[in-house]
Amino acid sequence: MAFRNLTVEHADRIATITVNRPDKLNALNGETITELGQAMDELRADDAVGGVILTGAGRAFVAGADIGELQSQDVLGARARSTAGQDVFRRFETSPKPVIAAVNGFALGGGCELAMACHFRIASESAKFGQPEVKLGIVPGYGGTQRLPRLIGRGRAMQLLLTGDMIDAAEAYRLGLVNSVVPADELMTSTRAILGRILANGPLAVSYCIEAVNRGMESTLEDGLRLEAGFFGILAATSDMGEGMTAFLEKRTPVFTGR
Ligand code: COA
Repeated sequence: MAFRNLTVEHADRIATITVNRPDKLNALNGETITELGQAMDELRADDAVGGVILTGAGRAFVAGADIGELQSQDVLGARARSTAGQDVFRRFETSPKPVIAAVNGFALGGGCELAMACHFRIASESAKFGQPEVKLGIVPGYGGTQRLPRLIGRGRAMQLLLTGDMIDAAEAYRLGLVNSVVPADELMTSTRAILGRILANGPLAVSYCIEAVNRGMESTLEDGLRLEAGFFGILAATSDMGEGMTAFLEKRTPVFTGR
């Protein structure tokens, strides 16, 4: 599908979604949110795609929800906007294929929330993060109040959410918001290299890892451990498990089929 506000490129089983409204710093208008959901649905269903990188065109990753649209919203419209965006972001988070945010610049408001809905984040040295919604008299509406404390801890999240302060990539790394910080011109090659290492592993194992972590984080330890044991059992029935272990013992590279 062709998109107005995104580009989607495919290479080596990696799909790269680029939010592409650089003149508005890739602000998320309603159409862009809808397209992000459509793109993710397509990539999840595409057997030729093993994993996804999400990034932004120009000097921003995403500078937030489109304030021009927010300005005129009423009570029910605002609630519906929040729910619709949360649903789209959840499709990134629950993707059985790994999704990495390559944060190239401003990741503010909905941009920081979108990055947090990805499985993990790599930042360029020029990236900036923040949840500035309180400066506009609103709260984050795309999961920021929920994912930020889960990711970096309640106190640190509270400070960012309540001040609306913008932080640089080094501070985001110190807080655990991003996994690593790389020079701007190495962002995409570094992110692709990490995703390439993930794609060399058993795809079913990778999918079950994602689901175990996602669901386990919302469960008791007891329930999470039961889920893990169930997945451990399911994978014992796959030919990929046989291939992975045989390849190890035969000192060769495994050839996984996802079965
Ligand atoms: N919604 C709508 N438009 C936005 C936007 C947003 N969230 N963020 C940036 N833009 C637009 C600007 O209005 C401007 O458009 P214009 O050229 O038609 O006037 C363009 O993008 C460039 O932004 P500008 O503010 O001129 O760039 P800057 O380098 O001076 O500042 C930021 C960059 C990111 C600090 C600043 O744009 C900003 O604070 N954006 C809003 C961030 C925010 O509050 N996000 C949460 C929204 S809920």
